[in-house]
Amino acid sequence: MATITGVHADEIRDSRGNPTLEVTITTEEYSAHASVPSGKSSGTREACELRDADGVGVTRAIANVNTVIRDALLHVTIDSAQIDRQLIALDGTKDKHHLGANAMLGVSIAVMRLAAKEKAMPLWKYIAELGGYTPGFPRLYMNMLNGGAHSSFRLPFQEYIVAVGAAGPRESYAKANAIFETLGTLISERYGVVPMGDEGGYSPEMNGIETPFALLNEAMGAEAMAFLAIDAAASEFFHDGKYVIEGAPHSSDELFKIYEDLVKKFHLKSIEDPFDEVDFSTFHRITTELGTRALIVGDDLTVTNPEITKEMIAEHRANGMIIKPNQVGTLTEVFETVRLAKEAGWKLIASHRSGETEDTFIADLAVGIGAYGLKAGAPTQKERRVKYERLIEIEKEFTQ
Ligand code: PGA
Ligand code: ZN
Repeated sequence: MATITGVHADEIRDSRGNPTLEVTITTEEYSAHASVPSGKSSGTREACELRDADGVGVTRAIANVNTVIRDALLHVTIDSAQIDRQLIALDGTKDKHHLGANAMLGVSIAVMRLAAKEKAMPLWKYIAELGGYTPGFPRLYMNMLNGGAHSSFRLPFQEYIVAVGAAGPRESYAKANAIFETLGTLISERYGVVPMGDEGGYSPEMNGIETPFALLNEAMGAEAMAFLAIDAAASEFFHDGKYVIEGAPHSSDELFKIYEDLVKKFHLKSIEDPFDEVDFSTFHRITTELGTRALIVGDDLTVTNPEITKEMIAEHRANGMIIKPNQVGTLTEVFETVRLAKEAGWKLIASHRSGETEDTFIADLAVGIGAYGLKAGAPTQKERRVKYERLIEIEKEFTQ
């Protein structure tokens, strides 16, 4: 294997216009880039995204890549697992606040891209071989109505998603786009011009918990390959022990009943973070009582962290989870989490963040690990579209 001849990070802007980093790593023959997304409704146990004292800038994270990480990795052989271990040791903290999980992830992804290039393999295939996974195409979880923290709480839940699982990404994307277009027409007829949320979906103001679901159902029409999903991101509306929806406080049991009704009435099939990230007993209850009819998906609950995921599996607090590499900081840890979740029979949904870049890594990741779904947002933003476009490219590589 080749050795590293260059490590460099630059500042770029994410889809919200905030600074983030792009890392470039080179060998004698190749070079690879990776850029790092950023969440807004983050789980409290996520690895530390290193920002400057102003809470915005990433000059410290960039400096870490360009000095201490660069010095450690120059002339090192391209070996993802080994380099990730080196980064973890170099950081030396539990939450990665020394180097920054953002700095570490940029390096980790660029190294894996280089390793795939050195082997002349598409990235998804390299990932599949590395982990011994059966690759496959994910359902497209397209977030069409943005609420919660992604749109000043104009809608109570954070993401109202239509998931489409047709024969392959090209067909799924076409169907999802058609539904999104119909939705746009319905919204302009009924609500006029409405703002867009962080992930490129519509953000109308509506009354009634069921109204957004009824609207999406209408937009879906008779499309048999689509179903409804949500990311409630419930930690965001959990205040003083109550879930506050449309101004009214609800207990855990009352919120459970709301989900139960939505599953029955709208065939809601996938519910992410239905409760606050430490409301463990209600996570357990919903997994036990609704888990055969709906996928109960951990995100803030599990934060792509192997130790935390292990605990949630043992306590039966979900039966699916979000995989977001920047929640944990290195791909080696991501794959450890994937292994644990797969062994437990959990379904995986690879995911973007609300602040995205044009990096398409999660598309390769979703295919490589054979994820059940890919959350990549609405097609109004370039940063989201490129993920779907990469999937369609992979569909071509798949048959070659
Ligand atoms: P975030 O939201 O990227 O703002 O954390 C996405 C999610 O909660 O799934
Ligand atoms: Zn989430």
